[in-house]
Amino acid sequence: MTLNFSEIKINLLTECVDVRQFTCRKRAHSSTLENFLRRHAIDNQKKQLSVTWVATMRDVPIGYFSLACASIDLTDLTPDEKDGCPLYDRYPAIIIGKFAVDDRYQQQGVGPWMMEHLYAIIIRLLDLVGCRYIIVESKPASVGFYEDRCRFVNAKTLDNGNVLLYKNVITITKEAE
Ligand SMILES: CC(C)(COP(=O)(O)OP(=O)(O)OC[C@H]1O[C@@H](n2cnc3c(N)ncnc32)[C@H](O)[C@@H]1OP(=O)(O)O)[C@@H](O)C(=O)NCCC(=O)NCCS
Repeated sequence: MTLNFSEIKINLLTECVDVRQFTCRKRAHSSTLENFLRRHAIDNQKKQLSVTWVATMRDVPIGYFSLACASIDLTDLTPDEKDGCPLYDRYPAIIIGKFAVDDRYQQQGVGPWMMEHLYAIIIRLLDLVGCRYIIVESKPASVGFYEDRCRFVNAKTLDNGNVLLYKNVITITKEAE
């Protein structure tokens, strides 16, 4: 059955959301994403460690992402990124700490739909805070989603096996025009 995206809402996580209904354990690494929403996201939000946005359909959570402040090392960027920029050691970024779609709603376009909302949030932020990149440390199995679908740049594989990817916010403001 095709999803009716007009029925999906995206809001900041509150205690009113029944996070126990969120299931994400189909892939080996994904139960940590289920656990985070169910057990840690609200607490992290209260402690100002991350802010979580939840996509719900008829009040049931079907996906979420968490954002926090971060930075990216100059040496992780391709040489053309430095054109016209002062050579600071690090550039300001927002990190996608978590990004997940409920097992029952995967492969139906919810991930790209949430990413568009994430971009809209970042664009709103740009009037208030300097932020040049969106970064993510992806599990290898999800790199294709960020790299091929969302056009993030693959920067490097980290010591823990995850992959650091980035996207220059100037490209999303251009894509939105
Ligand atoms: C990865 C995830 C966020 C993608 O969201 P989704 O709603 O299932 O995305 P869809 O399958 O609808 O894919 C949308 C597009 O991305 C592509 N895509 C999705 N996952 C991909 C992957 N691993 N590699 C390459 N392309 C991928 C699809 O082919 C599709 O392309 P199209 O629009 O050209 O047809 C989701 O499957 C998920 O939550 N997985 C488990 C948790 C996870 O791995 N989260 C990321 C952790 S860092």
